[in-house]
Amino acid sequence: MYRARVVGCGAALPARRVTNAELAETIDTSEEWITQRSGIRERRIAGEGEKTSDLAIAAAQAALSRAGISGSDLDLIVLATTTPDQTFPATAVRVQAALGMTKGAAFDVQAVCSGFVYALSVADSMIRTGQMQTALVIGAETFTRLLDWTDRSTCVLFGDGAGAVVLQAVQVERGAGGRGILSTHLHSDGRYQDKLYTDGGPSSTGSVGQVRMDGREVFKHAVANLAAAAAEALAANGLSPAEIDWVVPHQANRRIIEEVGRQLDLPKEKIVLTLDRHGNTSAASIPLALAEAVSDGRIKQGDLVLLDAMGGGLTWGSALIRW
Ligand code: UT7
Repeated sequence: MYRARVVGCGAALPARRVTNAELAETIDTSEEWITQRSGIRERRIAGEGEKTSDLAIAAAQAALSRAGISGSDLDLIVLATTTPDQTFPATAVRVQAALGMTKGAAFDVQAVCSGFVYALSVADSMIRTGQMQTALVIGAETFTRLLDWTDRSTCVLFGDGAGAVVLQAVQVERGAGGRGILSTHLHSDGRYQDKLYTDGGPSSTGSVGQVRMDGREVFKHAVANLAAAAAEALAANGLSPAEIDWVVPHQANRRIIEEVGRQLDLPKEKIVLTLDRHGNTSAASIPLALAEAVSDGRIKQGDLVLLDAMGGGLTWGSALIRW
């Protein structure tokens, strides 16, 4: 039996840092409103000409370097994004070419803010079946390109960035504990597609459209779905919330994350938060937070790490990892 183990993490952020105070100079908002309602203090915004693939490649190179392998060792790239460089081909193949990988497969996955957990689940499944051995999973976004800068209820919340992990197949005894991805669970419910969406797309308007969100409704669903996904992951593995060492949640709103933590009875110290500095980077938020907590030594070998995501679709899901 094969299991996927994380052997390297990497992150990349655009250089341009934009504070709440700077936004308040041009938008009808205030530094206090954004901080108090969301927990966001600043975000990074991609520079002119800086593409999702640029951030993805930088994060991928950092993850490969940490794993001590090169692009030619990979047989799979799964890239989660809502903001591909082009409608086609997949941004993943641009990354593939840049990394010098000429075998295997590279493709994109679209599940908005749940995208990284979806991509991880796809790669994990392919490794478990023995189809792939070494995979790169990326969450990369230039989400600010989709924003309506006259809509203060959305434009203050998002940022750009990318994070990546390298997965390696390891052989384990059936039923054994051990390290690696223990489980992933994915969900979607298209009845709520109109709660968070873009008002355009290639086959409808011919343009990419801009983000529209019913914030209060998404907030309610986010709390319920994130708590349910966490409970489902723990139950599937016969574990209790107290056994979790770190939660790395999608970074949309600090109040959502804290409420889920309260429902799970998790101390705040166990929750990795990057929202204050990154804002909501959609599919990139979890791998960005993961890379930070691994590189600063918080997440250590043997720790139980829960990834918990929720986004447009609505989509949501979890991954439980013994690090
Ligand atoms: O990543 C995918 C998942 N996304 C999410 O999870 C986002 C979920 N939703 C949220 O995080 C929150 O709903 C928001 C942060 C978007 C909004 O917070 P809220 O506490 O739900 O505020 P609200 O939408 O109920 O708006 C409260 C007030 C309104 O004014 P009135 O009607 O009470 O007079 C808004 O017009 O705040 C006003 N408002 C703002 N004021 C200053 C909305 N946006 C802003 C703003 N600055 N940027």
